[in-house]
Amino acid sequence: MVVLEGEGLTKVFGGLTAVSDVRFNVHAGEIVGLIGPNGAGKTTLINMISGLCRCDRGTVRFRGRDITSLRPYRIARMGLARTFQIVRPFPRLTVRENVLIGALYGTRAYRTREALARATEVLEFVGLADKMGQRVADVTQADQKRVELAKALATEPTLLLLDEVMAGLNAKEIEDVMRIVLRIRAAGASILMVEHVMKAIVGVSDRVFVMHQGRKIVEGRPAEVLADDRVIAVYLGSRFTKR
Ligand SMILES: Nc1ncnc2c1ncn2[C@@H]1O[C@H](COP(=O)(O)OP(=O)(O)OP(=O)(O)O)[C@@H](O)[C@H]1O
Ligand SMILES: [Mg+2]
Repeated sequence: MVVLEGEGLTKVFGGLTAVSDVRFNVHAGEIVGLIGPNGAGKTTLINMISGLCRCDRGTVRFRGRDITSLRPYRIARMGLARTFQIVRPFPRLTVRENVLIGALYGTRAYRTREALARATEVLEFVGLADKMGQRVADVTQADQKRVELAKALATEPTLLLLDEVMAGLNAKEIEDVMRIVLRIRAAGASILMVEHVMKAIVGVSDRVFVMHQGRKIVEGRPAEVLADDRVIAVYLGSRFTKR
């Protein structure tokens, strides 16, 4: 079953077409990786799906409903959550208060007490329970990335969009987050994951698609995609390809 699909998605900034006629889908229970060089249009696509940026053309459907350019909070309430590449915490609030906000504005109409319990549960899930009472501004960048993830998870999404949650993490932290991503899927959610850490993309994705200069250029199984000449050419230049 397809949970998310985009068709003809296009976004133009002034003279620059950041996303150009992109078609893609995510099936229930699937982890789809989205890769591409800097400036390929990945974050813009995530912004279009989550309602942060209006689509100039094209349609986004989530669980069969047209959600194109709906307000972000309405999309979140429907069960589609996201993280931000540049983390967006409420820095003066504690780790738990940040995650509480996710629980309060998510898919369930939680009362405060239930939302607090949910926030605590999610913080245990991502391994941040011992930092619950600290201000977000005082925890490490790696922990702020986890807060970002926890805040999205607290909304109880059925589909999660991750924008470079592993950037800046060390090898052990990356493995921790990979395990968390697999556990999120095991709990029933589907995931669309933008990531530059190829080890993670290959390790967790069922399918990968590649963007370059706003277009989707290749799609398939992770190992096949990374070995594709067109993909090697956009990352390294055509002199590195086999043919
Ligand atoms: N709000 C904006 N106004 C103008 N141009 C923008 C805006 N947002 C993105 N762009 C441009 O659109 C293109 C795609 O940017 P985007 O951030 O989507 O790339 P990306 O694939 O996420 O890159 P990265 O891997 O570096 O995060 C870039 O050329 C970028 O400069
Ligand atoms: Mg980006």
